[in-house]
Amino acid sequence: MKRVKIRSAECSDAGGVTSASRSNSSKGRHIRDSWGSRLGIIMAVSGSALGLGNFLRFPAKVASNGGGAFMIPYFVSLFLLGIPLMWIEWTLGRYGGGFEHSSAPGIFHSIWQKNRFIKYFGVIGIFGPLIIFIYYIYIASWTLAYSFFALFGKYSQALDQATMQSFLRGFQGLERNQYFNGLGCAYLFFLITFLLNIGVIYYGIRRGIERLCKFAMPLLFICALVLMIRVVTLGIPDLARPSWNISNGFGFFWNPDFSALKSARVWLEAAGQIFFTLSVGIGVILTYASYLSRGDDVALSGLTAASTNEFAEVILGGSIIIPAAFVFFGPLDIQSIARSGVFNLGFVTMPLVLNKLPLAEMFGFLWFFLLFLAGITSSVSLAQPAVAFLEDEFNINRRKAVLIFGIGSFILCHAAILFLKNGVVDELDFWGGTFFLVLFATIEVILFAWIFGMENAWDEIHKGADMRVPRIYKFIIKYITPLFLFFILGMWFWQEWVSIILMKNVSLANRPFILGTRIGIVSIFLILALLVKIAWRQKRIQAERIR
Ligand code: ALA
Repeated sequence: MKRVKIRSAECSDAGGVTSASRSNSSKGRHIRDSWGSRLGIIMAVSGSALGLGNFLRFPAKVASNGGGAFMIPYFVSLFLLGIPLMWIEWTLGRYGGGFEHSSAPGIFHSIWQKNRFIKYFGVIGIFGPLIIFIYYIYIASWTLAYSFFALFGKYSQALDQATMQSFLRGFQGLERNQYFNGLGCAYLFFLITFLLNIGVIYYGIRRGIERLCKFAMPLLFICALVLMIRVVTLGIPDLARPSWNISNGFGFFWNPDFSALKSARVWLEAAGQIFFTLSVGIGVILTYASYLSRGDDVALSGLTAASTNEFAEVILGGSIIIPAAFVFFGPLDIQSIARSGVFNLGFVTMPLVLNKLPLAEMFGFLWFFLLFLAGITSSVSLAQPAVAFLEDEFNINRRKAVLIFGIGSFILCHAAILFLKNGVVDELDFWGGTFFLVLFATIEVILFAWIFGMENAWDEIHKGADMRVPRIYKFIIKYITPLFLFFILGMWFWQEWVSIILMKNVSLANRPFILGTRIGIVSIFLILALLVKIAWRQKRIQAERIR
């Protein structure tokens, strides 16, 4: 695999900015990283995509939004939003990387150099992943903790939903009970997970992220396959209830309820799931692709990463939790279980199901370790845009960038840890994990298809390509994807905006916390925008001095 080539003719944005940065690189301050192999970047992008969303969020969404019928808007969104955005982000990222930019402000600027403001729209591509990182890493740390709990039988005495629920609440510090006496245990696992993440990021793209994903992704698939085989061979565990069998479990999950398709919410949920699961609209794929070189393929690699994620989501994610829960809890309880949310599904229902099997400790461990691997390969990707921004735009070395990111994000994570019960995680998830994804994707597609121009964009996708993208996608990227995105944003404004802004669905007691979270989110955005302004000013001054 070729390294990133520096193309002097092209590296002249922002008034010779990159020549300045290159001169500093030669003083040993910041040296651009690169991927070691094509397999490495495919594994890393798939690792970023494959996460808690595949094994928890997806089954919960399908089961509560019309079963198999949900797959119609889901696949429509995959083909009209997910796959085009995958190609757009891989292509934009590789293009911006040629100008030595690895985060959205610089990448957007390299596409539209004449516009002074476009780099501020790119702030969302650092801000979004940072907001998700704040809570995602905490949830990933629960999966590590539960891997140990499963292995050492810490919850093996919890045999019903209420007891398991109380175990989870005790662990989260929401109540003191016979299992936990405060947040100490959860905090310890948070620290371990946080340090693991920082360690991986510290080692960089090739020695950190690529190595982690090359090791974690095969392991993750092995864990998921073992669990899937265990679930599909469950048969009829309780002979007194022959209808509680695995084929009816799959039936409950996949039988289509076509009336759900009339609901706009179901279409929005399906589109939201595609964004979340493929990690598009976040900014991380832009960053990963920026470490490619100009001749590297993006068309086939992007499609391969998306297909890997979809296989893991639809085949593996769809075959584990809900069918297994059906077999043990039956057709009545499964309705409420499916609607009980991802935390309950993952941390209450699934351990209860696995507790009923022989080798419960081993299967429990496999389940949570699978989630942990899926979580950590995603969380490191969420950290990378901010680290890359500090490295590239302030020209500081990786150690310093990781230190600054580590201190800042460590402080911010406490909002999710301490105020979980006040709805702070849900609030961060709405803005970082839902709203800004769609907004950012809309900006990307306009920039790519309309500012850069569809002809240039098409040529750029095909540079070094190992496949031809079907021509229909020229039309889809230019018209359908932006229209679909505008439609989603419009529906949101129309259906939900007023109640969201006025916090109508938030209890009175939690309103100060939600307001505080919103003030925090706006402040983070403004600080990042200010950093962009300072970075560009510094580089302009440097470039003028060199001249
Ligand atoms: N794409 C990641 C997930 O599915 C964020 O969890």
